[in-house]
Amino acid sequence: MKKLIIANWKMNPQGLKEARRIFSEIKKVASRMPRVETIICPPCVYLSLFGDSISKRRLNLRLGAQNVFWENPSAGGGAYTGEISAQMLKNLNVKYVIIGHSERRKYLGETDEMINKKIKNALNNNLKVIFCIGEQERDIEGSYLYFIKNEIEAGLKNIPRKLFKNLIIAYEPIWAINKKGKDADKPEDVFQISIYIRRVLLGIMGKELSRSIPILYGGSVEPENAENILKEGGVQGFLVGHASLVPRDFNKILKIAQSVK
Ligand code: PGA
Repeated sequence: MKKLIIANWKMNPQGLKEARRIFSEIKKVASRMPRVETIICPPCVYLSLFGDSISKRRLNLRLGAQNVFWENPSAGGGAYTGEISAQMLKNLNVKYVIIGHSERRKYLGETDEMINKKIKNALNNNLKVIFCIGEQERDIEGSYLYFIKNEIEAGLKNIPRKLFKNLIIAYEPIWAINKKGKDADKPEDVFQISIYIRRVLLGIMGKELSRSIPILYGGSVEPENAENILKEGGVQGFLVGHASLVPRDFNKILKIAQSVK
């Protein structure tokens, strides 16, 4: 399985010129990493800038969105101010979409139910879904494990099994997001949780499918901690926030992913 390294630019950068610069610097390195699929998720206003330049298959570089709505406009419909449809994304050569990010749950009031509808619709439209889950805090009693299980089960509720081939799980403990790299989760804990997540997936979709779902880690991934988490964390890649806006750092992470067996 190729490593998946996903750049979540969040609400950055503020100008087109800077967006182009970051993209082209990452593209140069990403296209030389055959064992890594690099996915750049810029704000939606920049998606159309990049769609054409990544259409070549051999590049190993794909475009992702940070959001998608759960309805598909019927004829004359589409009355959802501010929202973006799956079809619009596909027309821009977008292959992936992030759904369930903790920042959207917190600031935009996205509930498990909304997230479930978004995942269902995105998968139905053949987009690959990067489904984010993760606890607010880690208690010694271990109730965060139930929290993670509930998030996964609620997000994937009533989704036909055949759609899971396009599912990716991004485990992002909220307490580790947007901190300094040394505050990221420890590789051994990521490993335990990745096993736990796979067990939860097994209960939902059975052995074969659950084994094929990539599980990623996110939360202050930086060049300094990427290698250990990838080697010892049992994950198949990363969802990278702040370090993905610094091409030098992000490219180092790509090179690490290329070199780790
Ligand atoms: P971070 O963000 O790498 O800045 O912690 C990760 C994320 O929120 O996806």
